[in-house]
Amino acid sequence: MTPDLIGSSSKFRALLQDVEMVAPVDSAVLIQGETGTGKEVIARAIHEASPRRKNRFVALNCAAIPSALLESELFGHERGAFTGACTQTKGRFQMADGGTLFLDEIGDMPLELQPKLLRALQEREFERLGGAQTVRVNVRVVAATNQDLAELVAKKLFRADLFYRLNVIPICLPPLRERAEDILPLTEFFVAKFAASLNKPIDVIPDDVIAVLKAHDWPGNIRELQNFIERAVLFSPGSVLRLPLDLKPTMRQTVKQSWESAPGTLADANREHILETLRQTDWLIGGQDGAANRLGLPRTTLIYKMRKLGIETRRSLRAIPIRQLAPARQVASEQCHAAANC
Ligand SMILES: Nc1ncnc2c1ncn2[C@@H]1O[C@H](COP(=O)(O)OP(=O)(O)OP(=O)(O)O)[C@@H](O)[C@H]1O
Ligand SMILES: [Mg+2]
Repeated sequence: MTPDLIGSSSKFRALLQDVEMVAPVDSAVLIQGETGTGKEVIARAIHEASPRRKNRFVALNCAAIPSALLESELFGHERGAFTGACTQTKGRFQMADGGTLFLDEIGDMPLELQPKLLRALQEREFERLGGAQTVRVNVRVVAATNQDLAELVAKKLFRADLFYRLNVIPICLPPLRERAEDILPLTEFFVAKFAASLNKPIDVIPDDVIAVLKAHDWPGNIRELQNFIERAVLFSPGSVLRLPLDLKPTMRQTVKQSWESAPGTLADANREHILETLRQTDWLIGGQDGAANRLGLPRTTLIYKMRKLGIETRRSLRAIPIRQLAPARQVASEQCHAAANC
């Protein structure tokens, strides 16, 4: 299945060109990048664009398998090789024959297994665990890691010869914060995806929401954005995308910063966003269902921002008896309304 590859930034387009260029050859590829940048997606894209696509793409996460079992997982075992080995079993190398073997988290490959992996890569042959018969395979290996492999080599935690064998074609995935241009197409893609799967039709993504998403640094990269948009779709009350309630501190900080430093147009957009949220909550500010919670802001901060942006606290004016609106008591009445909303 061809993976969905979304992006429009120059860095992303250069990445797609690399994929096209490396796909037809059999050389090993080493994909490096922070968590969630799309290493597995790119590995699959390389396989799908290669002549090997008719055969299997087999993935193995080296960090997820206990080291004692990894040799058998990779190379298979003979019957009786260890207690419980009742039958001969193929390893991932053999399963991927004619196709692509994706070795994820290669930095976690135990040192003692690395010479056998190196031989399988160089000679395209190996023996199953507990066996003497040599198995020959035709496999293209794509490895990935979010660790700095060169640094692991320097610390003698990874064999230099294996590093060079894997690193024939290095591909570095840039973090999402370095390709903010991709935020809009990715957000549109994820909104459409989750709107369909959650049956929540969302057809408007406000510019100020995109501005906030672009300002965040996304340490979890595309995976974090994807999960965030899923929550946003789920919690959006209508057909307009809203930011989720459970904004993480970093995100909340970003929202705060983007508001504080907002240029005219963004300030206008923020004003509209606040007004729209207030309309949706029927001008309720505090509490679980209030606008402050929806916007991920403390209630007092929202009231401060409303004042700054010239948004009247209409509900309080409606709700508070007219006699309380004498000039001397006006400030007190606003405080009262805020408390009443909680
Ligand atoms: N260009 C893209 N377009 C659309 N979705 C993407 C793209 N890149 C990554 N994703 C999605 O982001 C999520 C993370 O991607 P992936 O698992 O490939 O990242 P990774 O770099 O392997 O992460 P990790 O280091 O944590 O294993 C996946 O759900 C994937 O579908
Ligand atoms: Mg991965």
